[in-house]
Formats: sequence, structure tokens, C-alpha cells
Amino acid sequence: MNQEAKLAQLKTRNEKAEQGGGLDKIEKHHQSGRLTARERIQILLDDDSFTEIDKFVLHRCDNFGMGKVKIPGDGVVTGYGAIDGRLVYVFAQDFTVFGGSLSKAYAEKIVKIMDMAARNGAPVIGLNDSGGARIQEGVQSLAGYSDIFLRNMLCSGVVPQISAIMGPCAGGAVYSPAITDFVFMVKDTSYMFITGPEVIKTVSHEDVSKEDLGGAMTHNAKSGCAHFACGDDEECLLLIRELLSFVPLNNQDDPPRKPPTDDPNRCEIALCTLVPDNANQPYDMKDVIKAVVDHAYFFEVQEHFAKSLLIGFAWLNGRSVGIVANQPSHLAGALDVDSSLKGARFVRFCDCFNIPLIFFEDVPGFLPGVDQELGGIIKHGAKLLYAIAEATVPKVTVITRKAYGGAYCVMNSKNIRCDYAIAFPSAEIAVMGPEGAVNIIHRTELAKATDPEKTRKALLEDYREKFANPYNAAELGYVDEIIDPAHTRPTLIRALDMCKNKRAVNLPRKHGNLPL
Ligand code: HXC
Repeated sequence: MNQEAKLAQLKTRNEKAEQGGGLDKIEKHHQSGRLTARERIQILLDDDSFTEIDKFVLHRCDNFGMGKVKIPGDGVVTGYGAIDGRLVYVFAQDFTVFGGSLSKAYAEKIVKIMDMAARNGAPVIGLNDSGGARIQEGVQSLAGYSDIFLRNMLCSGVVPQISAIMGPCAGGAVYSPAITDFVFMVKDTSYMFITGPEVIKTVSHEDVSKEDLGGAMTHNAKSGCAHFACGDDEECLLLIRELLSFVPLNNQDDPPRKPPTDDPNRCEIALCTLVPDNANQPYDMKDVIKAVVDHAYFFEVQEHFAKSLLIGFAWLNGRSVGIVANQPSHLAGALDVDSSLKGARFVRFCDCFNIPLIFFEDVPGFLPGVDQELGGIIKHGAKLLYAIAEATVPKVTVITRKAYGGAYCVMNSKNIRCDYAIAFPSAEIAVMGPEGAVNIIHRTELAKATDPEKTRKALLEDYREKFANPYNAAELGYVDEIIDPAHTRPTLIRALDMCKNKRAVNLPRKHGNLPL
């Protein structure tokens, strides 16, 4: 074969590989509202930046006639490219080839790019759309999954790992996305579950639709297994690009910085009246966050789940920051099982990847309730406490109003290594709110009082004077600065600048024992 013929052969082979399962399968796939693996990669990555690896890999299975059907690439497109000019590795499962099912050779392709990502320090993005283990391959396929799960664990905290669920993802296959840092789902076309509706019907006689069991909104609003719910494939891929803009390439990289384009000295008068005088009146903490961060832009994570705690990213004077904030407009901002889990995982992500954390605090405590106690609020709340205490990135707290009890300790209090604690004059830092406190410490006095209401009023006034303000904590050094709320943005920018060379380490150990 001469050189020209060899090149023609390469071209033909490339074209065949790029057709995946063939035009009929591609058309059927499009009809289901989904893009193909290659179309997805094209949207995800910068133009012309994708380099495909292992395009001609074939499966090695002869069972059930499989020896006669081999498709180059074997159902997964893998390689590397760039997002905003920064290196990323990607694998995209191709449903048009054997339903995107995973063979041993297919798993080896994914493992190869994961190993490269760990070695070269760049994120891994997995686009999932698969019928699961390649049934014809039996245990070989399961071993392939295990190889991937092992890499997910080894890469955790070393390079960011992102999963998008863009079709089926069932059985043990869900455990790869579950280990990754952020899970995106596409509404109406994706689902994730361990056992599907039919098996559930047989075993527990429950009737449930695929959507209710494992659709995008189920996992975003109820189970908390997903972080983003997207309208379609394109929105999902563009959102992944945006998330990555806030995140460094690996754990030894600095968090991204861009030239500041918003005035660092901007004061917001609106913040002076945003927190209501009445401590029982709700307000939207997102208004506080937006008033402070660059261009009022808050990239919220898990917005549909555990709404009493807000988490997400923002830019502050061009620096990427992670934000954790109580939300007084939902459950009065109380911490519960779900919000503790939500906050803990996010704090750990930011700490792994050197992203400074800002806490906005208005928390009446942990949510009281039998459900909460029996649901393990003790161990789940402990996770949030552990995660924040463990974090060594710069950690700054802004107390806007209530900072009560154990929740005060947990929400990055001074004694768990808060680098800078700022309070509004409306802050109330105490073991509990005035009503509860007076009822307990003055029980006898109130019982004996000739005019209990008058006595209660006087006692409440006395308690408020003492604790329903930030001054007692400031006198003791638990608050570093009490500020005019209008100055929150410049104060936070100065505080983060002050901590930018922070050096803090935890004592060497194999690993801590997070209360799981
Ligand atoms: C081999 C598979 C396959 C699989 C689908 N296909 N899943 N081939 N192994 N796991 C093939 C189909 O035979 C079909 O081939 C093509 O892919 C498209 O599948 P359809 O069924 O036509 O598509 P659709 O109607 O959209 O249904 C998609 C599906 C369904 C819901 C995913 O295919 C399905 O239920 N598949 C089996 C899912 C499953 O039980 N997986 C394995 C077990 S659990 P042709 O040639 O007809 O086009 C598991 C656990 C992993 O995976 C464990 C990790 C530890």
C-alpha cells in the first residue's frame, strides 16, 4: 500500500469511527432529544481544541455473537481539549454503540484519560449516557467499572471531577458520578437509580415512574444526589464550562483570578436596611450576597435542595470564592440534616482546591424535630462542623443577624479557625434567642412575679441589652470588626487580601475520621 492509500485508509477508518452506531441510531438518538457524544464534546470544549485518544479501540468479547460486531471506539469517545484555554480531559459515552454499555476495553479508555488527568493535573469531565454494564461481557465489565471507581477515589481532591447525566445511568454505574465533585442532570432525558421501577415493583410493590424515581428534579430537589438541573444538553454543557471557570485545574494550582472589573470600594447603602429590625422577620440572603460580590453575580450550586443553606461561587474583586450562607427566608435559616450535608460537601470541595470561603450567617440554630433527631442530625450536623473546622483555606464570616448556640460554633466561628469575623450592628451572638433564654434562666422569678408579663418584658430587655448585639462577642475578641453593613464589600476584599498568603496545616495523619 502506498502512502496515498495509507492516508485514504486512515480517513475511511476515522469516518467509520466517527459514525458511532451508524446514521439510523444517530437519528433515533436525536429524536429522543439528545445530542451525540461527539456533538456534546464540540459544545463543551473550545473550538478545534479536542484531541481524541483511542479512537480505534475494539472490544474483545466473543460471547453471544459479539465477535462479529465491533465498532471502532467501542461506545465511548475519550480525549483532551480546552475550556477557556485551560486543559481538561473528557469522556463521552456514545449511546448509539451498544446502548453506550461499558465493556472492559471501554473502561480502559476511561481509565487511561483519568490517569493522564491525575498525572498532568487537569479536571475530568464525564458525559454519561449508557445502558450500564455490557451484559455480554459479564464480570469483565464489572471489573472495568471497579477500575473507574478506584480512579474516582484516587482523583478525589487531586483534580476536579465533573459528571453530566445525559441519558440513562443505572445500577452500580451511578457510583462513579456519585464520587465526583459535581453532578449535572438534563431534565426529561436523564435518570439515575440503583434499581429501576420494574425491580422496585417486584420487590417492594411500589409504583413509581422513572422520572419520579431518578429524574433530574428528583435528584436536584429531593435526594440531593445532583447539583444542577438543566433544560437541555447544550445548557448543561455550557453550565459545566462556567462552573470550571471558578475552579483551579488541580489541588496544587491557585484558584482562578481575573482582572477586577467591579469597584473594590463599592459601598451598598441598601445593606443598611436589608436586615429587618424584627429578628423574626425573614429576608433573602441572596440579596446580601449579590450586594457584595462582583457584578451582583452568584453562581448558585444545588439551588433546589436544602434551601435553608445557600452554597455557590462568586467573584470578589476578580478572585474566585466559595460562599456558604444561611437563608432566613427558608426555615428561618435553621440548619437541618440536608443543609448540613450540602454545606459540608461544598466546604470540603473548596478546601481541596484552595478556594477561599465566605460565610454569611443568620442562623437560629439546628432545626428542632423528631424527624431531624431520628434522621441523624447529630452525625450530619457534625459533618458540617468537621468540614469547616478542618478547612485550611482562608475562611471569613459575616454575621448579619442571629448566631445562636451550636449553629454559631459550626458556622465558621472564631474558635474553629475563622480567619476574620465581621459583624453587622444587627448581629445577635448568644446561646439562644431572648424568649427561650429568659424562660429558662428566669423560670422561678417569672413563676413568682405578680405581673409576669411586665417582669418578662423587663427581663427580655435586660437580656437583649446584654446578648442581642455583637458587642459582648467583640469585647471578648470573638468578632474582629463590627462594620456599617454598607461597607461589607470593601471589608471582605481587604480581609481576603490579608489572608492571601495564609499557611495552615493539620497534623500529619493517614486521614481524619469524618463522622459519616
Ligand atoms: C449490552 C445493551 C445494554 C447493556 C442496552 N443495550 N443496554 N447492550 N449491555 N447493558 C443495547 C440494546 O440491546 C440495544 O441494542 C441498544 O443498546 C439500545 O438499547 P434500547 O433498549 O433499544 O434503547 P432504549 O429503548 O432507549 O432503552 C435504554 C435502556 C435499556 C433503558 C438503557 O436498553 C436497558 O434497560 N438496558 C439494560 C440496562 C441494564 O440492565 N444494564 C445492565 C445491568 S446494571 P440494539 O442492537 O437492539 O440496538 C449495571 C450495573 C453496573 O449496569 C454495575 C457497576 C458496578
